[in-house]
Amino acid sequence: MTDTELREQVRARYAAAAAAVTNREALSLVDANSNRHRPSANSSCCGGTDEVDTAFGAALYSADEHGELPPEAVAASLGCGNPMMVAELHAGERVLDLGSGGGIDVLLSARRVGPTGFAYGVDMTDEMLALAEQNKAKSGLTNVGFLRGTIEDVPLPDAAVDVVISNCVINLSTDKPAVLAEMFRVLKPGGRIGVSDIVSEDHLSPADRADRGSYVGCIAGALSRSEYLDGLAAAGFVDAEVSFSHEAAPGMHSALIRATKPIADCCPPESQASCCEPADKAGCCSPGAHEAGTCGCR
Ligand SMILES: C[S@@+](CC[C@H](N)C(=O)[O-])C[C@H]1O[C@@H](n2cnc3c(N)ncnc32)[C@H](O)[C@@H]1O
Repeated sequence: MTDTELREQVRARYAAAAAAVTNREALSLVDANSNRHRPSANSSCCGGTDEVDTAFGAALYSADEHGELPPEAVAASLGCGNPMMVAELHAGERVLDLGSGGGIDVLLSARRVGPTGFAYGVDMTDEMLALAEQNKAKSGLTNVGFLRGTIEDVPLPDAAVDVVISNCVINLSTDKPAVLAEMFRVLKPGGRIGVSDIVSEDHLSPADRADRGSYVGCIAGALSRSEYLDGLAAAGFVDAEVSFSHEAAPGMHSALIRATKPIADCCPPESQASCCEPADKAGCCSPGAHEAGTCGCR
């Protein structure tokens, strides 16, 4: 199967998942008394088999977090973790969620960053974007924007956000180096990632991973822990960590991933005075080090 065919298979799978929620089938999974979600193959498209279902979906969020959201946003949760546990969002920050689905993590982020911050979601599936827009309207939040696009070619300018989050999407990409490079590009210097994803133990070969589950079910396309760390380093990230939280299939884990985009390198002090004159900024130090007041720039 070509990468284009694989991506179309992913899109079709998640279009069907969005339609299931829109048609209110998934809402029957929410217990009206406890407001707790019962995992199901219907709702857990990431996964989709009985063995891995408890590793995915709304059960990975607290009752307080459920209470912050429209029930449809909870029912549409298809992630494998909770990026809020690693993102540590603050008021006023700008956040981007890659593969935002029905919008659960975008809406939770928007509440945390407050009216002076903003939360974007990017997704390639029109049905998911429509569902996310409905959930935004029900939430009453205005500091939220959903964008149509791919996570390999994010429709935002350089250095647009403080934090990039994602929940069980990077494993679905057919070009993971492009995704990691885009995360780096859209982050401001000093920005960070807080990602949840399926990650394999290092000893599992790609064939071993494919034996444990499908690509569209978020298993076969997973990176190993070392591949993730190497990929983050190659993209330019520092202080990267991949922590396993719970097993999704034998040797395959839901993991929380952190990393930071370094503050741009400055020129050595002796050359700052000459290289950071306004007219010379474009050639000075590394990209991102040219703002007035940084690295000796005027
Ligand atoms: C497993 S769901 C997770 C959705 C959401 N993050 C959550 O936790 O509920 C994967 C989502 O990523 C989107 N997606 C998958 N590959 C993508 C890509 N290459 N570019 C943009 N969106 C993608 C799908 O459309 C789907 O909405």
